[in-house]
Amino acid sequence: MPCQTVDHVRLSEDGTALVILDQRRLPLHREYLYLQTQEEMYQAIRTLAIRGAPAIGIFAGFAMYVLAQRMPREKRGEFERCFRAASAYLNSSRPTAVNLSWALRRMERVLDIHPEADPAALLPLLRAEAQAILDEDIAMCTAISEHGLALLRPGDGVLTHCNAGPIATSRYGTAIGPLILGAERGMALRAFADETRPLLQGARLTSWELQNAGVDVTLICDNMASSVMKNGWVQFCFVGCDRVAANGDTANKIGTSGVAVLAKHYGIPFYVLGPSSTVDLACPTGAEIEIELRDGEEIRSMWYAEPMAPAGVKCWNPSFDVTDHSLISGIITEKGICRPPFTESLRALF
Ligand code: MRU
Repeated sequence: MPCQTVDHVRLSEDGTALVILDQRRLPLHREYLYLQTQEEMYQAIRTLAIRGAPAIGIFAGFAMYVLAQRMPREKRGEFERCFRAASAYLNSSRPTAVNLSWALRRMERVLDIHPEADPAALLPLLRAEAQAILDEDIAMCTAISEHGLALLRPGDGVLTHCNAGPIATSRYGTAIGPLILGAERGMALRAFADETRPLLQGARLTSWELQNAGVDVTLICDNMASSVMKNGWVQFCFVGCDRVAANGDTANKIGTSGVAVLAKHYGIPFYVLGPSSTVDLACPTGAEIEIELRDGEEIRSMWYAEPMAPAGVKCWNPSFDVTDHSLISGIITEKGICRPPFTESLRALF
């Protein structure tokens, strides 16, 4: 059966609320949140109830439609001021994934290209734009999964880091999309999922999604990747991305660059998979990508019955790192596989 959307980000029946699957509660609890205010939406992104670069973009599109319905509609000027302020506020929730600002800009452009339209007339246009962002992501993820699967042979093992599956996108996902598509076609593939400290997206989300899809998945701690590679159990590394700079430097979940360094050492091809909406040609290199810093409590005490570190110990908790383009074998978008030199192959995408 073809991979379904998990119904993890959608409008409520009457269209006045944004409904999301709370990813913080997975895999044990399947709980949905109904969001209507910009504070609730900001917190949902900030606390990772919704996460994964493309899913955050889809969320942002529908969020702006829901918020627009609650804004003053008498005067266009007042509506527009509120709309742009709400967009800026949501944009400040997480800095690294470009898909958030990309989707918000698309929603604001609806206002730009209809300068005379009154707010009531803008609402259906905003809803259609949000739906287009979702529909395009489904098509992009399906194509990315096909391109990735074309690299794999039956029996191959793939190591992945963090979660770039259906709930991080719209359908199939990016990095694990080829594995899910392969399973649908009866192809025997093996996945190794890094648990992904400190928030355990690999343990909680990737291994859950792959198990559900019938993929042979083995969960490992992050510090076991070297042994898995040395044992010859993986032929590829597939990871997602939060922002790809013009030179191919790629921001993704903290720990990704370490996987790339190991893959280089063991001669294992390392691929980045993501929709073209994650490529940011305005960002020349990885040095210009802002890396989100998160609360040290995520390292000190979260997930434990008791804190596992001395209270107040200094922590450094970057959410992402940048993998140097020299470590990347290819960047797979919906349009195919970009090869080095990425400055040229990425520019040719647009
Ligand atoms: O902090 P997160 O869980 O949002 O980080 C997610 C990742 O790093 C993913 O690999 C990336 O967003 C790509 S999702 C298709």
